Amino acid sequence: NSVPVVTVDGPGGSGKGTVTQMLARRLGWHLLDSGALYRLTALAARRQGVDLADEAGLVGVAAGLDVSFQPTPEGEPVRVFLHGDDVTREIRTEETGDGASRVAVIQAVRDALLQRQRDFRQAPGLVADGRDMGTVVFPDAPVKVFLTASAEERARRRYLQLKEAGMDVNIQNLLDEIRARDDRDMNRSAAPLKPADDAQVIDSTGLSIEEVLSKVMALVGQA
Ligand code: C5P
Repeated sequence: NSVPVVTVDGPGGSGKGTVTQMLARRLGWHLLDSGALYRLTALAARRQGVDLADEAGLVGVAAGLDVSFQPTPEGEPVRVFLHGDDVTREIRTEETGDGASRVAVIQAVRDALLQRQRDFRQAPGLVADGRDMGTVVFPDAPVKVFLTASAEERARRRYLQLKEAGMDVNIQNLLDEIRARDDRDMNRSAAPLKPADDAQVIDSTGLSIEEVLSKVMALVGQA
């Protein structure tokens, strides 16, 4: 497949979601939010009464996901539908994120979602957001970015986001959750979170979204 891909991997709260959405829009390329697929698997499991400890059940849920993504005007989150239901807000809750990182440790669940992710690679190009985009899903991507930020900075960003969305949150709880999720994502044996050998690492602590975006755009321009 010669369609170009920019992979952006990194921990939650590094700014990946916003950066990849803006990047895809500017380039006029498709966008893959791979985390949404793990979140949808966790949510669908809950709705179907499948326990997060039931591996075979979870693989069935992942393989049978009926999802669609609908583009939105600039600045609004992409709308996500699960079996026809708008779950845009529901997949962003801490509970669903936590469930996502639990189903994501299961190799067979990851395998069930692999081809679905590769199918997003369509002309004129793809921006892929996740944890293992550059290492596992698109190892041949010409541009790979690993975006990080300190845990404190990520907790602060998440706090502001959730507060703006009208949710009642505590920053210390968020920091604890972020650390627990980082730990699970980096120390799992199935596709652990780490930069690909050929990835460019960008630390977004103290950088604005625009500054991060122009760094990534420069890498795409050089490729
Ligand atoms: O990026 P997001 O917070 O939506 O991802 C939710 C969870 O899904 C992550 O904590 C991670 O465990 C998992 N994930 C993954 N591989 C990806 C994307 C997300 O394991 N490519």
